[in-house]
Amino acid sequence: MTDLLLAGIDPGWSKADPASLLEDWRERLSRLEPLDAEVAAATATHGEVIAGAGDPAALTLAHAAALGRERGALTRALGELPNLPLERRKTRGRALNEAKRLLSDLEAAKRLALERAAENRAGLDVTIPGRRPWVGRRHVLGQIFDELLDLFHGLGYSVYTSPEIEHDEYNFGKLNFPPDHPARDAHDTYFVSDQILLRTHTSPGWVRAMEERRPPLRLVFPGRVYRAEQVDASHMDQFHQIDGLYVDRDVSMADLKSTLNTFARSLYGGSVRTRLVPIYFPFVEPGAQMDVSCVICGGSGRLEREGRRRCSVCKGSGWLEVLGAGLVHPNVFRAVGYDPEQWTGFAFGMGIERIAMLRYGIPEIRLFLENDVRFLRQF
Ligand code: DAH
Repeated sequence: MTDLLLAGIDPGWSKADPASLLEDWRERLSRLEPLDAEVAAATATHGEVIAGAGDPAALTLAHAAALGRERGALTRALGELPNLPLERRKTRGRALNEAKRLLSDLEAAKRLALERAAENRAGLDVTIPGRRPWVGRRHVLGQIFDELLDLFHGLGYSVYTSPEIEHDEYNFGKLNFPPDHPARDAHDTYFVSDQILLRTHTSPGWVRAMEERRPPLRLVFPGRVYRAEQVDASHMDQFHQIDGLYVDRDVSMADLKSTLNTFARSLYGGSVRTRLVPIYFPFVEPGAQMDVSCVICGGSGRLEREGRRRCSVCKGSGWLEVLGAGLVHPNVFRAVGYDPEQWTGFAFGMGIERIAMLRYGIPEIRLFLENDVRFLRQF
């Protein structure tokens, strides 16, 4: 049907390629000639000006001169039609409408040609690779967690998660913090109510795991912890830790030491040295802090390349505290219903932000929570 209606009609130019009209507009003009020579002549002049416009502003002016709503020459001629005798009125009317269509098509074609030329002048280079969409990545702390979980998985540990909102009993009591003992003061605590708090460390996870399961156990406890700290460059009131717990028969400090050495070499490099320094934590006995040789100065306490200036990261000591550890206190076993004559175990716990800060030289702990991509995309 469509074919039939359009048979014999050949516009010579399709809207899909308006630029081609610029070459053959005169052909359409010649079809106007027999209809009304005067209109054809005027259209030829306006057409030349439109086709010859050098920039979009000139084109707009040329278009307005011919077809402008009030002052356009053809528009005005159309307005004159009623004053003409009937016969001329008919042919002139047709001619003017043809001319109008031709000139506005021509204007559109010219505008497109000008735009294309401008793009070419601006150096449009279709071979330039496209803009790559920015792809997100795992948060730097997530990356460190992944690395640690991978490492401990290789040593036979699985993950146990426990609540961030915790009972006082689990955060302190069953971990052998005596009531009103000053050890609680080291954990500035956010209390939700009298007996409910935001956990101050990931160690309460051991208590929950031990109450739920029977030994042997080999578990790690990753997660977020809260302390009512004064916020500064190295303290935040929320941060992350990971604890580890191993419970079996005949577990000794030697087992703890070899596990921690494996951990330290994997995380800080094969040449790192470690030492255990005795320290008090209520839930382990003996308790220790593990230090690693400073990753910045290599353990000398001095920066050789900077005139032997004192290393600011280890404060000249050559050592960095990286974790707390020890053998599980018999009272903790009692609190969860394990017989301390039968079961032994070790535990360790460390802060994740500190690992990232040491590894990447990050000077400011608040950066981890700001979600500024300029920071995050560096890792
Ligand atoms: N929970 C302790 C803290 O946050 C760190 C710690 C010390 C964890 C000794 C342990 C450990 O597992 O054995 O300060």
